[in-house]
Amino acid sequence: MSIIEVKDLSFSYTKEIEALKKVSFKIEKGSYTTIIGHNGSGKSTIAKLLAGLLVPNGGEIYIDGAKLEEKTLSNIRNKLGIVFQNPDNQFIGSTVRDDIAFGLENHNVDPAKMDEIIDRFADVVNMSSFLDKEPNNLSGGQKQRVAIAGVLAMGPKIIIFDESTSMLDPKGKDEIKKVIYELHGDKELTIISITHDIEEALKSDHTIVMNQGEVFMDGIAEEIFKHDDKLLSIGLDIPFTYKVCNEIRKRGHKIGYYTDMDELAEGICQLSSRK
Ligand SMILES: Nc1ncnc2c1ncn2[C@@H]1O[C@H](COP(=O)(O)OP(=O)(O)O)[C@@H](O)[C@H]1O
Ligand SMILES: [Mg+2]
Repeated sequence: MSIIEVKDLSFSYTKEIEALKKVSFKIEKGSYTTIIGHNGSGKSTIAKLLAGLLVPNGGEIYIDGAKLEEKTLSNIRNKLGIVFQNPDNQFIGSTVRDDIAFGLENHNVDPAKMDEIIDRFADVVNMSSFLDKEPNNLSGGQKQRVAIAGVLAMGPKIIIFDESTSMLDPKGKDEIKKVIYELHGDKELTIISITHDIEEALKSDHTIVMNQGEVFMDGIAEEIFKHDDKLLSIGLDIPFTYKVCNEIRKRGHKIGYYTDMDELAEGICQLSSRK
């Protein structure tokens, strides 16, 4: 079942800047979708349109069975949370606890239940021991984990990560990716991750490739990365293991596709022993 359906969605910031041109796609409930593509290809515009932060110039958006329009807007906004790129723009409270609570206060959550909710989601992102600390002193990865807890506390059905790891160091990136992979265990939650990380795309169920405001490819990452020429034509890279497999295949050898380095090495060994 699709929880999101986008039909012929168009959006222009100005007459000259047509950010999206008749974009259509569907996203399954409980799935983990990655959206990849160059800077300026329209990825964040999609996120903002889905969240009702921008109004489309054309086309339709359906979320959880309802068409996104004026009268459904507030209901749909409650179903969708976004974690943005810059961890420093998402903080307002004097403690981590206050930060996670912020959204809840605006959602009229029973104050008696608030602590329980905060504790639960601080635990999900592995930040329980930081609840009384000042957000300013946290690392980028820790700040993003707090931001994720704040979004999750509001009980969204859909969570969008808009390049949420891009400003983090490698350790912070890994921390956030780990949280995303763990969240994917919850089949009730639909995850959309806008990313430049092609390895992350391989871990997702569904990948949409954007190029110049259009959907360039839409499918499973394992299939998409087999078309290296097509991706290279728009200047996108493919995972290293796929490059190797494609090169071996171009030389006329039969080899499958591997995402794991050790399995690839095993596959190559089997090739040479078959000779
Ligand atoms: N606030 C804005 N005002 C004018 N143009 C914008 C604005 N935000 C984005 N754009 C333009 O819209 C296009 C799509 O941008 P965006 O959706 O942010 O791409 P991405 O997230 O893939 O990098 C780009 O050409 C970008 O320069
Ligand atoms: Mg963006």
